[in-house]
Amino acid sequence: MISGTMRLPLFACLLFIGAFSLVGSTDSCFAPQEQPAEREGLARLVATCTKCHEDVCTEWKGTLHAQSWTDPVFQAAIADRPDKGESCAPCHAPQELMLTGFGKLPLARKSDREVGVNCVSCHMKGNRYFGPFDSTGHGGVDADASYRKADLCLSCHGQPEARAEHDQGSSYLVGTAAKDGQTCQSCHMPAAQRKLVTSPTIKEKYTIGEQACRVHSFSGARRGEVVRGAASMIAAFKSDQLEVVLTALTGHALPATEGRTVRLKIGFRDAAGVSVGEAYRAWRHGADALPATGPVTISFPAGAAQKAQLTLEQELPKVPGRDAAIIQAIAECEATR
Ligand code: HEC
Ligand code: HEC
Ligand code: HEC
Ligand code: HEC
Ligand code: HEC
Repeated sequence: MISGTMRLPLFACLLFIGAFSLVGSTDSCFAPQEQPAEREGLARLVATCTKCHEDVCTEWKGTLHAQSWTDPVFQAAIADRPDKGESCAPCHAPQELMLTGFGKLPLARKSDREVGVNCVSCHMKGNRYFGPFDSTGHGGVDADASYRKADLCLSCHGQPEARAEHDQGSSYLVGTAAKDGQTCQSCHMPAAQRKLVTSPTIKEKYTIGEQACRVHSFSGARRGEVVRGAASMIAAFKSDQLEVVLTALTGHALPATEGRTVRLKIGFRDAAGVSVGEAYRAWRHGADALPATGPVTISFPAGAAQKAQLTLEQELPKVPGRDAAIIQAIAECEATR
């Protein structure tokens, strides 16, 4: 498909050059061939970052970015695909983001796929290093304000046409957190005051002080982080109804991704505390999700119930090697007449 669409304009260009070789510039005709060759020795290069940026490397290794190709859930998902995951590689095994630009779908990598989404994907282009501020490391790091914006993340997390299942971007861009100036980094890379170079062997060489940094934790529900408090919940009886107000506090729709289910369970009781009924409601990724744009009010028939106990939870799908689905609590509350 890709080679087909690329061959056609090149063929057209060659005809064009043949006929009008004396007229105008032909630069644009050869644009497809100017795409840089894929970097060699990527895994080795990523391993060198550890020597000086030990803290950041340890954090990153614990995340699904480091495992975006080896992740057993991902591997199970590509096992039965005719293309064996080729179409997934732009985000699960990307070349440097800066080759296409932040906010645009990255190019796929052919080699070293097991190093996932790594330091080089986000911080290098060719031999140059880029980061949130100017610094003196490795011949100088070029400051780029985009590191503090959502665009960098949207390269993969906001490509609804390439992969709607893994899109947090569309709901983030219209949500209240984005309007308040919060980025993906605000919630998934907690702020810290620390040194950029932390390594027992090398730190003596550098006398660089602490800076306002962000931890590369990329907290996520698969690792049990950030889920409690991901939404707020208030409930009150209004005549024969129970009115529930839910507000996603995620910055994007909740659940954030395919396969998760967010579930509200309500247990109604009479004055003596005896169960008189139950109610239930579920949300899934996509049009069905809890929106990031503000509170949602839902009413449930409550009859003559005097009390209601509410639980909001998220269920993650079963993963290979684990028998049961994981249920994570988001919020609880009670209402009494
Ligand atoms: C998914 C993209 C991504 C990956 C992967 C990544 N970083 Fe970063 N890195 C960022 C962003 C975004 C910032 C800016 C954080 C901020 O606002 O301070 C950053 C900041 C930094 C900084 C500056 C200090 C700071 O915290 O602001 C260093 C040093 C750094 N990264 C090193 C690394 C190393 C080493 C790796 C690999 C182990 C790595 N990064 C992997 C996105 C990434
Ligand atoms: C020999 C030690 C060393 C190695 C190896 C090393 N760095 Fe650095 N790096 C530094 C120093 C020193 C700084 C500057 C620290 C400062 O100014 O506070 C730095 C700063 C950075 C920053 C700074 C962010 C900014 O905005 O200024 C990034 C990003 C970074 N390195 C990425 C990497 C990556 C990616 C690798 C691996 C490919 C790597 N570094 C390997 C020493 C090293
Ligand atoms: C090159 C593509 C790419 C970029 C850029 C990227 N991510 Fe990811 N991210 C992924 C993939 C792929 C996964 C999931 C891997 C898996 O589950 O197999 C992921 C997983 C995550 C997770 C869950 C991690 C966990 O360990 O639970 C969070 C949170 C996340 N990304 C946030 C961010 C943020 C914030 C940024 C921007 C600073 C960002 N990502 C940039 C591709 C990317
Ligand atoms: C446009 C970028 C992009 C493409 C293309 C892409 N993914 Fe992803 N994928 C992501 C991001 C970002 C995440 C992490 C956030 C999320 O789970 O929504 C992710 C996460 C996943 C996960 C983990 C979900 C979980 O429950 O934790 C699986 C499995 C997965 N992708 C499978 C695939 C498969 C299979 C393909 C190819 C058919 C593919 N992806 C193509 C960006 C992409
Ligand atoms: C206001 C804080 C906030 C902002 C802003 C935010 N998130 Fe989240 N995000 C959360 C919380 C809390 C969760 C956990 C609930 C869940 O799993 O849906 C979450 C979940 C996720 C997940 C699912 C992780 C997993 O493994 O289940 C991904 C991926 C993600 N966010 C990526 C992003 C990206 C990309 C952006 C920017 C476009 C972003 N987030 C902005 C708070 C935030």
